[in-house]
Amino acid sequence: MRERQALIFGVNGSLGRALADILANDYAVTGVVRDALTFEHGTVQTVIESDYSENSLALISNTLKTQAHSFDLLINATGILHDDNLKPEKRLQDISADSLTRYFAINAVIPGLLLKYFSGLMPKSSPAVFASLSAKVGSISDNRLGGWYGYRASKAALNMLVKTAAIEMHRTHKQAAVVAIHPGTTVSNLSRPFTTNTPADKLYAPEMSAQRIVSVLTGLTADDTGQFFDWSGDVLPW
Ligand SMILES: NC(=O)c1ccc[n+]([C@@H]2O[C@H](COP(=O)([O-])OP(=O)(O)OC[C@H]3O[C@@H](n4cnc5c(N)ncnc54)[C@H](OP(=O)(O)O)[C@@H]3O)[C@@H](O)[C@H]2O)c1
Repeated sequence: MRERQALIFGVNGSLGRALADILANDYAVTGVVRDALTFEHGTVQTVIESDYSENSLALISNTLKTQAHSFDLLINATGILHDDNLKPEKRLQDISADSLTRYFAINAVIPGLLLKYFSGLMPKSSPAVFASLSAKVGSISDNRLGGWYGYRASKAALNMLVKTAAIEMHRTHKQAAVVAIHPGTTVSNLSRPFTTNTPADKLYAPEMSAQRIVSVLTGLTADDTGQFFDWSGDVLPW
């Protein structure tokens, strides 16, 4: 029987790496990173380098198609909350064209391109899942605290891309589930500056979050397509 195949974008991140380690028990894992030279393969069987530009993603997708590759599980684990030049905004006056553009480029445009170029690599006649790591703060109806304009808005945009792609993919890939999932607050570079006040029992190790994400994703069927889940498998409101 053919070994199940998983494809993880951002496999060098905290969640990406932990997801690869768990999935490697049951899947041949292919991982995409921006810098393959500094990436230690570990459990990742095949490493692909990409700058996530449209050209690069199109080339990788075409190459995989030519090699007749298909993936039973695809996970986008890329994303940004902060870096040296980007901080989540506390007030409306903190937003800028540059910061909004960066949040959208990384948290929404890249995931949109991944759906465009890689959803066709799901098999048509067997179950498959394409999951994008989103964030509960991207839920519009759940937004009670405000702040974090760019991150929230870019994750809400990602959620809409996922929902819309799920509708389209259902026409051709009847057994596929295209979903967004909130991993829970997880120790990582992305979350580190913002978790000093997070209670210990609400801050999870990447291994724990990855295990829970894998449990949810591997339990999905086509009936679940177009939904936003949290790490426990509960459906979140958009
Ligand atoms: N950790 C949490 O508490 C938490 C909570 C809710 C949602 N999430 C979501 O979970 C996902 C993974 O987060 P994480 O905690 O694992 O963060 P992380 O360890 O910082 O990993 C982020 C990943 O995104 C990639 N990335 C960053 N900027 C990029 C760019 N411009 N182009 C392409 N890739 C880029 C990174 O690659 P490089 O190393 O090449 O930059 C890395 O692979 C994100 O979508 C995040 O929003 C996390």
